[in-house]
Amino acid sequence: MAIHIFSLLFYAFAAFYAHVSAAESAWNGHTTPESLTPSAFLPFYVPPGAKSYDSASPLVLYSGKWTELFSTAYVGKSLQQTREVGAYISFTFTGTGIEWFGNCDWEHGVSDVYIDGLLVQSVDAWCDAEKPRKQQRIFWDYDLAPQKHMLKIVNTGMRPGSKRACLASMDAFVVTKGPDPDPAQLYAAASPNAYASLPPMLRMPDGDPTEKWTLEQKGSTGVHAMQLAIISPTHALIVDKVEHNPLTINGHPAWAALYNIDTHAVEPLPMISNSFCAGGTFLGNGTLINVGGNPVVDGSPTSAADFGDLDGLQSIRMFEPCTSSTADGCAIYENPDRIRMASPRWYNTVVRLPDGSAMIIGGSKKGGWMNNATVNNPTIEYFPPKSIHGSNGLPIDLQFLKRTLNSNLFPIAFVIPDGTVFMAANNDAIIYDWKANTERELPPIPNGVRVTYPMTGTAVLLPLSPDNNYEPQILICGGSAIDDTKPGFEISSQDPASGQCVSMVLTDDGIAAGWEVDEMPEARLMLDAVLLPTGSVVLVNGAGSGISGYGNVVNQVGASNADHPVLTPVHYTPSAPLGARFSLDGMPTSEIPRMYHSVATLTPGGAVMIAGSNPNLDRSEVMYGTEYRVEWLGPPYMTKARPQIANGPKQLGFKKMAVLTVRLPSGALDVKVALMDFGYVTHAVHANSRLVYLDATSSADGTTVTITGPPNGMIYPPGPGWLFVVVDGVPSKALHVMVGDGTGPPVDRAEIKNVLENTRPDQYEESKSSGGEE
Ligand SMILES: *[C@@H]1O[C@H](CO)[C@@H](O)[C@H](O)[C@H]1NC(C)=O
Ligand SMILES: *[C@@H]1O[C@H](CO)[C@@H](O)[C@H](O)[C@H]1NC(C)=O
Repeated sequence: MAIHIFSLLFYAFAAFYAHVSAAESAWNGHTTPESLTPSAFLPFYVPPGAKSYDSASPLVLYSGKWTELFSTAYVGKSLQQTREVGAYISFTFTGTGIEWFGNCDWEHGVSDVYIDGLLVQSVDAWCDAEKPRKQQRIFWDYDLAPQKHMLKIVNTGMRPGSKRACLASMDAFVVTKGPDPDPAQLYAAASPNAYASLPPMLRMPDGDPTEKWTLEQKGSTGVHAMQLAIISPTHALIVDKVEHNPLTINGHPAWAALYNIDTHAVEPLPMISNSFCAGGTFLGNGTLINVGGNPVVDGSPTSAADFGDLDGLQSIRMFEPCTSSTADGCAIYENPDRIRMASPRWYNTVVRLPDGSAMIIGGSKKGGWMNNATVNNPTIEYFPPKSIHGSNGLPIDLQFLKRTLNSNLFPIAFVIPDGTVFMAANNDAIIYDWKANTERELPPIPNGVRVTYPMTGTAVLLPLSPDNNYEPQILICGGSAIDDTKPGFEISSQDPASGQCVSMVLTDDGIAAGWEVDEMPEARLMLDAVLLPTGSVVLVNGAGSGISGYGNVVNQVGASNADHPVLTPVHYTPSAPLGARFSLDGMPTSEIPRMYHSVATLTPGGAVMIAGSNPNLDRSEVMYGTEYRVEWLGPPYMTKARPQIANGPKQLGFKKMAVLTVRLPSGALDVKVALMDFGYVTHAVHANSRLVYLDATSSADGTTVTITGPPNGMIYPPGPGWLFVVVDGVPSKALHVMVGDGTGPPVDRAEIKNVLENTRPDQYEESKSSGGEE
């Protein structure tokens, strides 16, 4: 009976959703956790840990003629407004951030905002007459010293082109206290536990001062950085879930943005469906696809708020190549009636194949936490859909994803040089020959360590080189040995993570020899592995204890399922002997915990961009809060005399020769050229991240380097790449190239038609309203 009522209720809501979302694409469901009343997705939001002051608060002081307006659409049902030139508000607060919310419409104009007596910004609250909006964030500053501040807002009454005196309005202030800057406190906060008995981190002496790494905190992502991909020489694409990010678009919080890696400017991107927990890849023609996402959530304890008016589970969001240095015209295209997956996927992995198409692997059929047989989607599908194994574009079963339950989401996958796909999930690994549809079982990951969500480890394919005939070697680090059949209430945020790193050469001999086991200086899960052009790997981010996700286990910290952020990156040199591969030499320590939903990527300049961390349902100020600050980790080569690529090709064909015009430091001895894919980063998966050394010869006078494109698409799947000239261990900045002929992946119209005819865009929602699937 209860179920019946619920599904009826749901039906009513679904109708309401459809109605409202058609009218206003910014509409986004139940934005108050546990609420069943749909409400508009407005920028006004009080993150846990922050404090709101209504326009009627006695602490907000008005000077001049202000009028109070009443409506349920205002915060606290009231708002103050003035048309008087020079009328002002003053407000004293203690914290590191202040946000001012009010109306915007065609009658609003410019106000001058002063903090501690200094004019910090003139803000214009005008917006399109067609779209008057309430509860808008008119001004914010999150960068204040942690102390008492005085805010003053003065109505100038003006705006360009307006003859009439303009309005200023005040609905509410939100004061944020900001993240705790003292890492010592993070550790003090931890309770006595099993974790504390782990051996302390081994720290080497600081050593050679020319081998110092740098860590700089600069920039803010505006939308939380759950997913990250470098899309051009100047920009990174940042994709989040639907939540109350500070960056606003069309009157509601944004959940995608383009971040300028040179100027740190950030531009919101419109997006239709909820991209929570999507995967992604570039295709062979340079278009990036963002795949999968979140359903319209209802009532599970981990995700009580309902974010996203369009179910993102079957979404394929297309981002066409965009190299504008101002991000002009860059856009995400989404049309589920024409382009979508055949089945719903949450936490799927996407890899680019040797033909430039995408293989979409696994995931769960709905949002949740630990995977299980009911929600598992143990299949692969291709985009564009392929005519293969009689599937006609529909999903193909993969036994591996059935036998690796429960901890098998966001599978690890890399194309290896024979064109097959290495996969790891939970405690197991296979090589999947997608052309033959056969699985070759590999030895399980040693010591019972699980390496995929929510026991999230990370992996890279180590550099491929013609020197050893592109012999592939996989490296998988971190994760956890927690029993994945335990319910959340038997798992603790204090259960230690694994410190294990395993590697295996993926040849017959290598597989016979099995996994080589190594140990990181600090155990961690939810870490990121970033390949450097020098051929080494830096491991950053992660937690020393607990498990991925939020709101599921005992001893949560805030909502985080994990604790003991690991704050020091570690450098891994694959060519060093076992036992001497990890180094903390010259490595800085961060102040910023980065655990669930954190990311890191190499950038074309050679530094590592580090962002994100958000073990929360929605933006939070409570430890571990939502992190918007960006850090830049500079390997020692950043401060050395670097080679330069002055000129080179835009396109690099397989086996084709090309010439780079270069400036090499004098006395250059060892000249290498690294072709890299920085990957699509989400949930510690660095899909397609790759380094292939090219055949390269430098001219006697050191002004040119002649390179040969990779042998084929199995060694480097066709698509975008980055060329670095590496001289005596110091890389240049990268040149953006298109590898292959730039034509798209094969498109089979009949298979696309078959998928559209035999699947619907919102299967998960339908399964619920027809009585549910459980
Ligand atoms: C399977 O997972 C889903 C999503 O997390 C959850 O709602 C459901 O209760 C789980 N079922 C079982 C049998 O554990
Ligand atoms: C790349 O191929 C995909 C799939 O066919 C297509 O949708 C997209 O528009 C293509 N991009 C370019 C830049 O041609």
